Amino acid sequence: MTKLAIMGAMQEEIDPLLEFFKEYKVVEYADNKYYETSYKGLDIVIAHSKIGKVFSSLTASTMIQKFSCDTLLFSGVAGAVNPNLNIGDMVIATQLCQHDLDITAFGHPNGYVPGGKVLVDSSKELLKIAKEVAQKNNLKVIEGIIATGDQFVHSNERKDFIEKTFNADALEMEGGSVAVVCDALNVPFFILRAISDSANGEANFDFDEFLHSSAKISSDYLVKIIDEL
Ligand code: ADE
Repeated sequence: MTKLAIMGAMQEEIDPLLEFFKEYKVVEYADNKYYETSYKGLDIVIAHSKIGKVFSSLTASTMIQKFSCDTLLFSGVAGAVNPNLNIGDMVIATQLCQHDLDITAFGHPNGYVPGGKVLVDSSKELLKIAKEVAQKNNLKVIEGIIATGDQFVHSNERKDFIEKTFNADALEMEGGSVAVVCDALNVPFFILRAISDSANGEANFDFDEFLHSSAKISSDYLVKIIDEL
């Protein structure tokens, strides 16, 4: 690895990382800020994309193609789908999908477009390192499928559809699109999320209450992983 990209979707998701790394060169590009820093001999670029699949694809491609990042790590929050996940628990994605990608009218499965994949695999090597770090630090982290869509999910009905259709453990709004970009550009990636809500009728209240604390849980773990890269 020569240059590491670290992404979040919201400013609140990268703030704890910016506080940790402290000093940056800020580069403005495509109506966004990219924070360049170095840590233990590693060059790092940090950015929040803004919410959703379009902005996160733009940011991931920019970090890879303009800033020459060759590994991408994502840190942020997610809604729980798996009932064993509570607020503050962490999920690392083994695979990601787009739950709102729908051309089923033409006989394709949910989440599929011809030439694409329903599920994109994250880097096995990065997952291995993440699991070792979790074990060493006694952290509760589950591996699972993360489903992404351009929707803040706040109903059991939609959540049940996502669980049944994709066997998802957690859902959010950026990981699946970042995964597609990294997969196409052959860049190993890893998506980490800490649970902020249960994607049910109370999700918007829980999200507001737990965004900061869960973003910090995710970023603290991410820093421990970076120490082992
Ligand atoms: N990120 C965190 N919680 C979420 C939810 N309920 N829906 C979509 N993205 C989320």
